[in-house]
Amino acid sequence: MRISLEEAVQQLTSGHVVAVPTETVYGLAALLQDPAAIEQVFILKGRPFANPLIIHVASYKGLVPYVSHFPPHFEDLAQMCWPGPFTCILPVRSTVPSIVRAGLDTAGFRIPGLPITRELIQATGPLVMPSANLSGRPSATSPRHVEEDFGRNFPVMDGGECRMGLESTILLYQESEWVIVRLGAIPSTFFQSILGYEPRFVKQSSDHQPLCPGQAFRHYAPNAHLFVHELPLAVKNIVGFTERNYPVDRRVFILGSLHKPEQVAENLYKVLRQLDQENVQEAWVDMDFPKEGLWLTIAERLLRACDR
Ligand code: TXA
Ligand code: MG
Repeated sequence: MRISLEEAVQQLTSGHVVAVPTETVYGLAALLQDPAAIEQVFILKGRPFANPLIIHVASYKGLVPYVSHFPPHFEDLAQMCWPGPFTCILPVRSTVPSIVRAGLDTAGFRIPGLPITRELIQATGPLVMPSANLSGRPSATSPRHVEEDFGRNFPVMDGGECRMGLESTILLYQESEWVIVRLGAIPSTFFQSILGYEPRFVKQSSDHQPLCPGQAFRHYAPNAHLFVHELPLAVKNIVGFTERNYPVDRRVFILGSLHKPEQVAENLYKVLRQLDQENVQEAWVDMDFPKEGLWLTIAERLLRACDR
C-alpha cells in the first residue's frame, strides 16, 4: 500500500513500522526511541537480534546526542560523503537503545541522500532502517519489491526506484585506521583523497569477531540456484551484460552495460528478484568484468547471492 510522506510521519509516530525510500535501497523504518516498533522490524524481517541496525539522521546535528567521541578524520568523511551512501560506525552513549546496536558499544549512522527521506526524518526524529527485504533475500529497490516480501497491504512511502541500488559503504575506525566493513555504493578509491589512503576491506577483527555482524549471515539470495564458474550445459538462463554474445539458446537477464557499473548496480537486485518472479530454478552469472571500483561491490553481492 503506497502512502504519502504525511501518512508515513503519522504511522511512525504512532508506533508503526513503514517502508521508506532512500537513494540506496528501501528501508524498513521505526523510530529510534521506540523499542517496541524496533522489535517488530526484527520480527517482520526475520532478522537475528544479533545483527544491529543503522540509525538514519537528517543532519550532522542529529547524531551528536548519541555519539561518545569522534575518531580522527570523521569530520572530513562526513563533509565529503553526507548526505549520501556512507555509514559510519561510531562509539555511542547509552542514549542509543541496546536493541538497535545488538548490545555493542558502537552504532552505525547515516544521513541519506534522498531529500524526501531527510524531510521525513526532520519530522519524526532519527529512524532505524535495515533494508526492506526478508532476511537473506535480495534488497528492495522499488515499492513493488517491498510488497513482494511483506504483502500488498504493507505501508510503503513511494519514492520510485532507488537511484543507486546498492547499500551504503560502511566504515569503522580501528587500530589507528579506517577500514571498510561492508562494501557499498561508494567505492574504496573515493576515500583516498579524504583519508590519504584507500581503506582496506576487512571482514573480521584480529580476535575473529566479525566487524560487521551482518556479513556473517546469508544475504541477497534469490530462490534460483546461481552458478559462477563454467557455464553448465544444462543451465538455460544467464545473468549478463548488454555487450556480450551468449549462446542463442539461452535466456539472458541483462544487468546493464559493461561500461556502466552504476547502471549494473541500479539493476542488480531487480534482476535477482526477476529470476524469482519468473520462477527460474538455475542461472549462470557472467562474472567476467573488471574487479575494481564499484564492480568490487557488485562482485561481492553476486558471489553472496550464490551462497546457499
Ligand atoms: O544503504 C543502507 O545502508 C540501507 C538503507 C536502508 O539505509 N540500510 C542497510 O541496512 O543496508 P541493513 O540493516 O540491511 O545493513 C546494516 C549493516 C548490517 O550488516 C549490520 O551488521 C551493520 O550494518 N552494522 C550496524 N551496526 C553496526 C555496528 N555497530 N558495528 C558493525 N556493523 C554494524
Ligand atoms: Mg540488508
